[in-house]
Amino acid sequence: MRRAKSQMKGLQGSIGTSQIQVVLAVVLSLLTTSYCLKLGETCGSGNQCDAGLRCETCPANGNTRPRCTRIQPTSPTSKVKGLAFNQYSWLTTHNSYARSNVTSATGSPIISQTNQEDSVTSQLSNGVRGLMLDMYDFENDIWLCHSFDGKCYNFTSFQPAINVLREIRSFLEANPTEIVTIFIEDYVTSSNGLTNVFNASGLSNYLFPLSRMPKNGANWPTVDDMVNQNQRLLLFTSKSSKEASEGIAYQWNYVVENQYGDDGMTAGSCRNRSESSAMDTKSKSLVLVNYFPTNPIAADACANNSAPLLSMMNTCHQASGNRWPNFIAVDFYQRSDGGGAAEAVDEANGHLTCGCDNIAYCKANATFGTCDVPLISPPPPAAIGDGEGQLSSHSRGIEPADLLQSAALILALATFMAST
Ligand SMILES: *[C@@H]1O[C@H](CO)[C@@H](O)[C@H](O)[C@H]1NC(C)=O
Ligand SMILES: *[C@@H]1O[C@H](CO)[C@@H](O)[C@H](O)[C@H]1NC(C)=O
Ligand SMILES: *[C@@H]1O[C@H](CO)[C@@H](O)[C@H](O)[C@H]1NC(C)=O
Ligand SMILES: *[C@@H]1O[C@H](CO)[C@@H](O)[C@H](O)[C@H]1NC(C)=O
Ligand SMILES: *[C@@H]1O[C@H](CO)[C@@H](O)[C@H](O)[C@H]1NC(C)=O
Ligand SMILES: *[C@@H]1O[C@H](CO)[C@@H](O)[C@H](O)[C@H]1NC(C)=O
Repeated sequence: MRRAKSQMKGLQGSIGTSQIQVVLAVVLSLLTTSYCLKLGETCGSGNQCDAGLRCETCPANGNTRPRCTRIQPTSPTSKVKGLAFNQYSWLTTHNSYARSNVTSATGSPIISQTNQEDSVTSQLSNGVRGLMLDMYDFENDIWLCHSFDGKCYNFTSFQPAINVLREIRSFLEANPTEIVTIFIEDYVTSSNGLTNVFNASGLSNYLFPLSRMPKNGANWPTVDDMVNQNQRLLLFTSKSSKEASEGIAYQWNYVVENQYGDDGMTAGSCRNRSESSAMDTKSKSLVLVNYFPTNPIAADACANNSAPLLSMMNTCHQASGNRWPNFIAVDFYQRSDGGGAAEAVDEANGHLTCGCDNIAYCKANATFGTCDVPLISPPPPAAIGDGEGQLSSHSRGIEPADLLQSAALILALATFMAST
């Protein structure tokens, strides 16, 4: 203690007024730039939240206090490496192309439902790895479109499919260890229509071949193997005939999937959609859970994507023969009242990859089920009715306590230096 003090004294001997000013400046700048807000903390206008978070309210759940909410899941393959593809869960966007507030590439305003708020490129950079795309013959090409009476019109059409397929190709090019899955709701009847557009987009080079897809419930190849062979695009069609005619996998030969829309949102029930085998059919190695209403409403999505989604995931886990979902498909994936779809994916990945409740708790190279649960967990997604009070102490603006603390620090420094 004595030695330390005399060393300090030696150092302090050379400190003068300018050094005090530097210290003051540092303390002040630390205070004024502390805009790295964590999950659940109160935020204001501007981008104050940490990366991967967005400042949101959720009035549909009674939450009017803006708080940082998650929009990105944890990359499961960077946390637990090298497992079979079906031992991971992937965030999936329903109608990924049906973006709000855009006009049709035909120039027409869009008079049709929208399901997402950002581009496919943005979705991919936020960790979305499953894309649901509705494809139609339109304008002598293949377009991404909602149907009106089974047909694509200018006012229901978004853009030519090749544009979005090229976005996906750019992502795969730039991210050589990432794997993307496309689910096509397939209305294309033109001969080789899908093959042509995938070839033209350059995506065919990344296709995972049909011949390697397990049909008998076996594990898929490992993600490492898929990466090494550059077979990083899984493509499924909703048309069974395309498997024979174009070599494109018929989705429900490989995937079980629950009912979509309002009928799929009955708490406690997880029934198969009509095209799918029963949820507990183990000869299909992949499980897809849909959770979005028939009429997408952006303002409701934060409520739907939170506690009810987690609850449905658990219901579907049981219904699927104790299998966690490989794909979790939602509308407005960025909206939640806290953890949202990203939290659901992290929980599924925890169970799938390391036997823990969340992928954040997985320990490097540990035995399955050995978990690293933090003593202080992050603030949970807000419960219904959590309006103003409760979490507001997480607010990280400059607070009286901060000012007091720094004043005390400055005073202590000044006193210390004056005494030398
Ligand atoms: C639909 O859009 C195309 C342009 O892509 C235009 O040529 C055509 O006239 C439009 N059809 C209608 C019915 O407005
Ligand atoms: C569409 O744009 C308006 C105005 O910018 C915005 O308030 C609204 O949230 C957007 N809708 C969606 C669903 O993103
Ligand atoms: C697509 O590309 C593959 C490989 O380049 C080629 O063998 C095939 O004939 C093409 N198919 C069509 C319909 O263009
Ligand atoms: C899947 O669900 C539909 C109802 O939508 C039902 O008719 C069908 O029998 C189910 N298939 C299986 C295998 O349970
Ligand atoms: C989705 O959220 C809205 C708004 O809270 C709610 O009215 C609706 O019942 C929810 N849907 C389901 C199926 O939970
Ligand atoms: C886990 O195992 C891998 C491969 O054996 C090794 O490279 C890595 O260093 C290990 N990590 C830890 C934290 O032990």
